[in-house]
Amino acid sequence: MILPAAGSGQRFGGVQNKLFATLEHVPLWLFSVRRLRLHQRVGRILMPISASDRPRFETEFAQAVAESEVELVAGGKERTDSVRSGLEALGDDDSVALVAIHDAARPLVRHDHLDAVFAKADQCGAAILATPVTSTVKQSFDDGHSCHTLDRKTLWLAQTPQVFRVDLLRQAYAKHRGRPATDDAELVQRIGIDVALVPGSPENLKITYPHDLTIAQAILNIQSQHEHA
Ligand code: CTP
Ligand code: MG
Repeated sequence: MILPAAGSGQRFGGVQNKLFATLEHVPLWLFSVRRLRLHQRVGRILMPISASDRPRFETEFAQAVAESEVELVAGGKERTDSVRSGLEALGDDDSVALVAIHDAARPLVRHDHLDAVFAKADQCGAAILATPVTSTVKQSFDDGHSCHTLDRKTLWLAQTPQVFRVDLLRQAYAKHRGRPATDDAELVQRIGIDVALVPGSPENLKITYPHDLTIAQAILNIQSQHEHA
């Protein structure tokens, strides 16, 4: 598993990486790690981090990093640079057939959805969690002066984990030369591989803005009730 954590959280604001913000007193990156660690399909966890965050991970969080067996790797300028660095750190580990990439900023992914996306990737080599779009989506090429409507039935919102056969992801990254991509599935599609969409849930939200923490806490309350039901 590669767990990109090397962003700076621009949209979150604040003076530190948003992943140091807490949910029930646990930093978001560690919340994600703990949940993933409990899943049987998750083996090594390689976490790209920025050079500026490294001192904190190596002091304040050294014990948490060691206990949860997280391997810190150097992240990069763009998310794709960070994932590439994780992939390189994975080396030629022959025991690994699939590699999953999950945003450290998505702390609430459910285990049944992890089961489903890994199972699909076992079958077809490339699968991602996604949710069907519920709103009507308009597209505009002139800054909102006019628009047309996209067919909602064809639209999904991509999430993570995104799970790929290691060889496919390596090929995709070998071909990728700088053209921006907002997720890894896009790079895999560019080498001609079909990526399957596995229905997930909006519970797996990405913490982007401060108010997402309030939503996350509400989701967590619901998830805890179900666990203890
Ligand atoms: N990420 C990364 N390396 C980067 C950029 C992002 O590892 N160069 C990680 C983030 O830490 C996050 C995930 O990719 O866990 C998803 O990115 P995003 O939610 O956009 O986080 P940030 O880039 O930190 O936030 P922002 O775009 O608001 O600055
Ligand atoms: Mg970003």
